[in-house]
Amino acid sequence: MKIYIGSDHAGFAVKGFVKELFEKRGYEVEDLGTYSAERVDYPDYAAKVARAVAADPDSQGVLICGTGIGMSIAANKIKGIRAAEVHDYYTAQMARAHNDANVLCFGERVVGQGVIESIVEAWCTTKFEGGRHANRVAKIMALEER
Ligand code: RB5
Repeated sequence: MKIYIGSDHAGFAVKGFVKELFEKRGYEVEDLGTYSAERVDYPDYAAKVARAVAADPDSQGVLICGTGIGMSIAANKIKGIRAAEVHDYYTAQMARAHNDANVLCFGERVVGQGVIESIVEAWCTTKFEGGRHANRVAKIMALEER
């Protein structure tokens, strides 16, 4: 499983920390930017990560901005993407278990490093439950065709 990670300036400070958390768990992580704390526009990085994930079914994405909101809104515009903005262990766990989310979004201005560690743990250890949730996720994806 490959991870594509991206942030804007407001998520830049923790991006390296998050990358290391995934690498320690054995993931290959590709950093698609931003590469400094200089102000940038988050949709540009959401698009880079979301397009990479959409092109590689055996991958997931991680997007960090100030709140996680803008990144999730932008990433969900790309076909094939289910980006979930999470706040804690439970929401990260449910994003995988019920929504089969393939892009993890959160806000550097919202969560501290301890919560980020628990978010990554939940994300990495939770599998999609399928079953009744598979039909619901299929209905979400069908909305792309309308
Ligand atoms: C940047 O100031 C901020 O708006 C951005 O990082 C993000 O929080 C948007 O949703």
